[in-house]
Amino acid sequence: MTKQQAAVAALLPCPAVILTAAAGERRDAMTATAFFVSEVPPLLSVSVAGHHLTNELIDESGEFVVNLATPEQFEMVRQLGSTHGRDLDKFEEFGVATELSERVGAPRIAGSYASLECKVVGSHPAATYRVYTAEVLAYVVDTERSPLLWHRGRFFSMGGQVG
Ligand SMILES: Cc1cc2nc3c(=O)[nH]c(=O)nc-3n(C[C@H](O)[C@H](O)[C@H](O)COP(=O)(O)O)c2cc1C
Repeated sequence: MTKQQAAVAALLPCPAVILTAAAGERRDAMTATAFFVSEVPPLLSVSVAGHHLTNELIDESGEFVVNLATPEQFEMVRQLGSTHGRDLDKFEEFGVATELSERVGAPRIAGSYASLECKVVGSHPAATYRVYTAEVLAYVVDTERSPLLWHRGRFFSMGGQVG
């Protein structure tokens, strides 16, 4: 991919999320982003590179959690986005605090703005990624916190309301 092509994708402002996935004894957490698909039913999509452990665990379990990160979790977001679950247990290595999910096997990340427990309803390959469409089965939100955003390779907190 040329630098110019990569720069186009980076123009989209995105939520910085942490995907958690688990199958049997195995689990992983990776930084990603997520996109709105439908309000009713509540559907979203995520795109996961084909070689990631997270991808394998989602395919095996058909589930994952989208944890919307906060500005306070910025360091963890960088750590989980630059290391691989096939090499180390990221939860142990970075002291990631988790909570049990209500409807899925993958854990929630404690301290997130929101955790959306998802069941895969469809997937398809796109370039070197697999795009998952998923239904949100349950969620928790902490309205005292705010989401972390990612834009043009940099992280931002939410600005003020304009409308
Ligand atoms: C802000 C940010 C967003 C990212 N978004 C994605 C994404 O949407 N899909 C993806 O496959 N990787 C994404 N990555 C890269 C993965 O988080 C990274 O490759 C990670 O090491 C994969 O972990 P794993 O091998 O344990 O699954 C992102 C990284 C950062 C820092």
